[in-house]
Amino acid sequence: MVNNIAIEKAKTSKIHEVDFDNLSFGSVYTDHMLVCDYKNGEWEAPKIVPYQPISLDPSSKIFHYGQSIFEGMKAYKDEDGKVWLFRPLENFKRLNKSAERLAIPQLPESHFMDGLHALIQLESDWIPTNAGSSLYIRPFVFASGNGFHASPANEYKFIIACAPSGSYFSGKVKVLIEETYSRAANGGVGYAKAGGNYAGQFYPTQLAAAKGYQQVIWTDDNTHEFIEEAGAMNVFVRINDTLMTAPTNDRILDGITRKSILDIAKDEGIKTEVRKISVHELVEAAKNGSLKEMFGAGTAAVVSPISGFGYHGEDYTLPELTDSYASMLKKRITDIQYNRAEDKFGWRYPVQ
Ligand SMILES: Cc1ncc(COP(=O)(O)O)c(C=O)c1O
Repeated sequence: MVNNIAIEKAKTSKIHEVDFDNLSFGSVYTDHMLVCDYKNGEWEAPKIVPYQPISLDPSSKIFHYGQSIFEGMKAYKDEDGKVWLFRPLENFKRLNKSAERLAIPQLPESHFMDGLHALIQLESDWIPTNAGSSLYIRPFVFASGNGFHASPANEYKFIIACAPSGSYFSGKVKVLIEETYSRAANGGVGYAKAGGNYAGQFYPTQLAAAKGYQQVIWTDDNTHEFIEEAGAMNVFVRINDTLMTAPTNDRILDGITRKSILDIAKDEGIKTEVRKISVHELVEAAKNGSLKEMFGAGTAAVVSPISGFGYHGEDYTLPELTDSYASMLKKRITDIQYNRAEDKFGWRYPVQ
């Protein structure tokens, strides 16, 4: 028992089979996972068990009605071997915000936080220490209850699984500003981290990839005139020396990296603006040279610089900068995450 969480240990560890020097993102999993069931109107006590497949009835509602939400976070190991999380309570709150929108029962804070803490403590040997690597943590909830009736399930599973991971993207990405498809709509589920939001992105992203773009920048569903966010990242734009990002709304995920970057930028004395950014403005700024940088911000990729964007059949290339905000902000946020710098905002959470 750790933090009141029962632990069934794996008989053998797979850790020696993993090449920690050549980790991809999210494709090998640790020895254990946290599992918690919702039954008879309540969340039962979470427990840690060996990582294993899940058996589900074919009529489980997850397969038919897509009641599925998730989070993405990371555990970091510092030079002294101490383990840290970054703003984990924000992930817990967002999971419950997503749960509310998908009619999934609210998860108690202690189930999430104590379960997470105990799991990361148990799996701490799995946290990679190579530059840019971390233990990616995937909490998720889905409808395990069954029935072909289109209504919320009466049983759910909350699971946390972990994957030692290297960088998400290497190098800069070229993006396509989407003019036809939409990721989310007014009044929809775009602000929730719901599985279906990602399924709907894959096809337009494949079309963009076939044209040579690694990511799509989503625009508002109504006019396609204002940029919103990327596949799994919020988007920042620097015009002259002002850093801007779109305001969150019911179509945009309220990213934890996004709000941290805004706070750090303000702390650096950078002028920030949270406002609608039109594609027209972006194109004009690219043409007159005032568009200095664009980058994505999210837990997986942290800060991902954009090399250029495509719009209306034209490609616009961004300059190479020596004083890039993206590099400076990435360094500042990762220095906090890996305990290499003072945490003046109180974002680090120790796992001891
Ligand atoms: C659609 C979308 N937008 C933005 C983000 C960035 O959010 P965060 O910084 O909390 O990881 C993510 C990733 O979680 C995402 O999936």
